Amino acid sequence: MAGVNTMEKKLAEYKCDTNEAICLKLVRFPEDIEDDGTTFHPEYSHQIFGDDEVAFGYKGLQIQLFYSAGNLSTLFKVKYSSKVTETFDCVEPDDVEGKIREIVPAGFTCNTDDFISLLEKDANFKPFGTLLHTYTVHNEEAGELTYQIHKADITCPGFQEYHERLQTFLMWFIETASFIDADDDRWDFFLVFEKYNKDGETLYATVGYMTVYNYYVYPDKTRPRVSQMLILPPFQGEGHGAQLLEAVHRFYCSLPKVQDITAEDPSENYVKLRDYVLVKLCQGLPSFAADKLHLGFSADMIKEAQDKLKINKKHARRVYEILRLRATDMSDEEKAREYRLEVKKRLFGPYRKNQRELAKMRKCLRPEELVSHMGQMDTQTQHEELEKSYQVVVEDYRRIIERLASQA
Ligand SMILES: CC(C)(COP(=O)(O)OP(=O)(O)OC[C@H]1O[C@@H](n2cnc3c(N)ncnc32)[C@H](O)[C@@H]1OP(=O)(O)O)[C@@H](O)C(=O)NCCC(=O)NCCS
Repeated sequence: MAGVNTMEKKLAEYKCDTNEAICLKLVRFPEDIEDDGTTFHPEYSHQIFGDDEVAFGYKGLQIQLFYSAGNLSTLFKVKYSSKVTETFDCVEPDDVEGKIREIVPAGFTCNTDDFISLLEKDANFKPFGTLLHTYTVHNEEAGELTYQIHKADITCPGFQEYHERLQTFLMWFIETASFIDADDDRWDFFLVFEKYNKDGETLYATVGYMTVYNYYVYPDKTRPRVSQMLILPPFQGEGHGAQLLEAVHRFYCSLPKVQDITAEDPSENYVKLRDYVLVKLCQGLPSFAADKLHLGFSADMIKEAQDKLKINKKHARRVYEILRLRATDMSDEEKAREYRLEVKKRLFGPYRKNQRELAKMRKCLRPEELVSHMGQMDTQTQHEELEKSYQVVVEDYRRIIERLASQA
C-alpha cells in the first residue's frame, strides 16, 4: 500500500497545470524574449488538454508560444526539467507538442535565432485592409499611443495565413472557441493595431480583432452577426474593446442593406461592452432625451434605434433602462419604486412563462408530478430570484453609467 502511495506521489510531481505551463508573448524587441514581465498565460486550455487542464509526464513544463508583435510569426518551444519515461517505464507522457501542433499553423520556428530574423521582418508588416478609424489612448509610461482599426477580408494578400496564427489565441481566452471557415466570403474581419516606434521607424502591433458573419435576410437585407471578439490580454481594460465595437457598429450603420447587428451566443463581458457602446450611440437620439425616459419604453425609441443605428428592440430596451436609471433620482422613493417595477416587469417575462407552463401542466400531470414541478416554481423563490436578477442588472448598469461619466 505504501508503495502505491509513493508511486502516486511521484507521478503527481509530473502533472502540470497547462494554464501555467503555456507561456504566451507578443515580441517587439529581441530583449522581450528573455523578459518574463511580458509573458501572459491562457485563461483556458481545456479544449486542447481536457477538462482538468493538466499535462502529464513532465516536471517544470513550459510551452512557449512567442509571436512577433505585428505579423505574429511564431516561436514554439517545449521545455521541461525531466520527463516521466526517464524514471518510470510503465507510463507515457502526454504528446504536448502534437496537441499544440494541431492548432498552431505550419510555418512556426523552434529556433530563437530564426525567430529573431523573422522579428526583423516585422518592420515591413503593414495592417491588412482599409483603415476605418484612428484613436489615441494615454499611457502613463509611454504617453499618447495611436491605434488603428482596419477592415479586412480573406482576399487581402497574406491575410489568410495571418488569421490562422491570430485565431490560435481564441483557444486560450474564449471558453467555447472554435475556428471559423475563413474561406466563406461572408466573413468580415476587423483588426486593431497599435502604432509604435522601433529604431526611428513606425511599426504596427496586433492588439485584437473581431469576426462578423453577414447573414442573408429575405428579400434584400443582411444581418451582420458578431462571432468572435478578442482583445489580447496585454491590451485589455484600456478601452480597445469599446473602440472596436463602436467602429464596427458605425461601419454597418452606414450600409443601407444592413437590417440590424446581432451577436452569436454573446458572453457576459460582451453584453456589458455592447450595452456601454449602444448607450453611447443612443444617448444623443431625441426619443431617448431625459424628459421622454420617464414615460416608458416607447415605439419612437424602437423605431429611432432601428432606423438610425440598426439596433434591435431587445437591445434598445436595455439602453432605455440604463439611460432611465441615469436620469432617475434613486433617493426619491417613489421614482426609485417606479424604476424598479419597470425593470422587474421585463425580467419577470421568463417567470410568467413558467407560470403559464405550470397552468398547462396542471391539466396533464398526475398530482405527485405536479407537486414536484410546483416546488421548482414556488412563488417565494421566484420573488427572490427576481430580486437577485434585478440587483445584478442594476449593478452592471451603474458601472456603465460611471464609465460614461468618466469618458465625458
Ligand atoms: C471582452 C473584451 C473583448 C473586452 O475588451 P477590452 O478592450 O478589455 O474592453 P474595454 O477596455 O473597452 O472595457 C473593459 C473594461 O475595462 C474598463 N476600462 C476601459 N478603459 C479603461 C481605462 N482607461 N482605465 C480603466 N479601466 C478601463 C471598462 O470600464 C470595462 O470595465 P467593466 O467591464 O467593469 O465595465 C476582452 O476583455 C476580451 O477579449 N476578453 C476575452 C475574450 C472574450 O470574452 N470575448 C468576448 C466574447 S467573444
